[in-house]
Amino acid sequence: MSPALPHQHLITLAGMPGDAMQSLFNRADRLRTPGRPQVLAGRTVVNLFFEPSTRTRVSFELAAMRLGAQIVPFDVEHSSTQKGETLLDTLRNLEAMGCDQFIVRHRENGTPGFLAEHAAAGVSIINAGDGNHAHPTQGLLDAYTILRHKPDLANCCVAIIGDVLHSRVARSDIHALQALGVGELRIAGPEALLPGRDALPGCVVHHRIDEAVRDADVVIMLRLQKERMQHALIASDADYFHNWGLDDTRLQRAHPEAIVMHPGPINRGVEIADSVADGRQSRILEQVTNGVAIRMAVMATLAGTDC
Ligand code: CP
Repeated sequence: MSPALPHQHLITLAGMPGDAMQSLFNRADRLRTPGRPQVLAGRTVVNLFFEPSTRTRVSFELAAMRLGAQIVPFDVEHSSTQKGETLLDTLRNLEAMGCDQFIVRHRENGTPGFLAEHAAAGVSIINAGDGNHAHPTQGLLDAYTILRHKPDLANCCVAIIGDVLHSRVARSDIHALQALGVGELRIAGPEALLPGRDALPGCVVHHRIDEAVRDADVVIMLRLQKERMQHALIASDADYFHNWGLDDTRLQRAHPEAIVMHPGPINRGVEIADSVADGRQSRILEQVTNGVAIRMAVMATLAGTDC
């Protein structure tokens, strides 16, 4: 395996050294330019998405195509998983057809890790988001985007705001930014949408958005994930926006050159105002662009290629 990714799979960023991430970023820099080598020619990549996705799914497809791989867009709704076939049997059958990289999104924490434990030699599992556990390629692309604007990360203050409790993105962002040596990492959200402090080591927790945003260099807004709530944890969308939405007035409290990020999909007028999402400081679509380069770097590295 490449020193950039010492394992055969990418399941979480927990425990990944910052220099391994930097090595992936360097590879992403090389692969984002035209004329890239077709290092995945002859490989077959399967998108196994058991939850909806736009950005992650399409960017993995584009990344695979741009490196010369064949991509199989597995349609869960019309697959034999609907007839009771287990995930493990699904994996075994797709392996038997010569598929060698699996991009897995699942609502249950641990599903990509479980498949990784049982994958055949030479087969890689890439976690595309499991429950509220991890979304490692989003964590990597977020850190990569921040470093392109704020290379002096040790003197950078990043605020992650919103529904942290249900956010796999927040967990992977925290792992990435801490491994890369971020100066200050703030976490903020309503009490009902924050995990216990034990889950946020090294983070400064705020209970008001105005405090979290003050002088921050990077503001990452999170989506309110109602589909993961067993019961209502907020009074209303309007109430949430009033207390926790990022609008122009609140953004003015941040550093004047602060950048605004959001993993998407955006709930406009719930966690972020249109004027901010589409404004001068927004890097939201740049995150999406960078996602393709990061996913090319991850797939090329797991395939053991040099480029
Ligand atoms: N950021 C992200 O995971 O978006 P999708 O759900 O559209 O893939």
